[in-house]
Amino acid sequence: MARPRAQLKVGVLISGRGSNLQALIDAAADPAYPAEIVLVISNRPEAPGLARAAHAGIAHRTLAEPTRALFASEADAALRQSGAELVALAGFMRILDTAFVEAWRDRLVNIHPSLLPAFQGLHPQRQALAAGVRFSGCTVHFVRAAVDSGPIIAQAVVPVHGDDDEARLSERILAAEHRLYPMAVRLFAEGRLSIRDNTVAISGAAAPEIALFNPSQALASAAG
Ligand code: GRF
Repeated sequence: MARPRAQLKVGVLISGRGSNLQALIDAAADPAYPAEIVLVISNRPEAPGLARAAHAGIAHRTLAEPTRALFASEADAALRQSGAELVALAGFMRILDTAFVEAWRDRLVNIHPSLLPAFQGLHPQRQALAAGVRFSGCTVHFVRAAVDSGPIIAQAVVPVHGDDDEARLSERILAAEHRLYPMAVRLFAEGRLSIRDNTVAISGAAAPEIALFNPSQALASAAG
């Protein structure tokens, strides 16, 4: 009998809702998915994402934050004890201690709801609307010390609609996040990512040929 392939052990850090955690849990429910979630850590005891971990039977805990450094060293110890080989930030709303970022260098990923490097930091969807861009999206990237920076693994492009508000645009981007994050973790788990300076090469992956236009076509003028 063929031995089952070892799955990459993933630790997930959350602060809130946990819908991206749920997307990873759902992906990992497929036995063919090459990664499993071994630990979920929250910095907030009331984070709804903790219940998602509990429901899926995944070890989960809240860590106090007396200081940024103490949270990081507790998280580091718990992750190592869990056997985590990759740490995925999924709506983790704190800046991580630099020593933690360095300790997990190239094994620490984040998802951000914009096409980085545009709109780093808080409220990227609001920033996109204020800038009037026709497209935004989401990015999964390796984490470096500067906020929302680091080699980009994968991105999804999402159109901005004329009647969007922050909630509508966020919802459209979130639907793409839920597809992008499991894909990026899979690529990592399959050993297909190699980092060169600030860029990531992906083996055996194709980029789309198409260009998207927004507006996609000019509507007939009302006056015409
Ligand atoms: C997502 O939009 C993620 O990109 C950002 O924070 C949000 C977290 O949402 N970093 P959830 O907790 O995964 O539902």
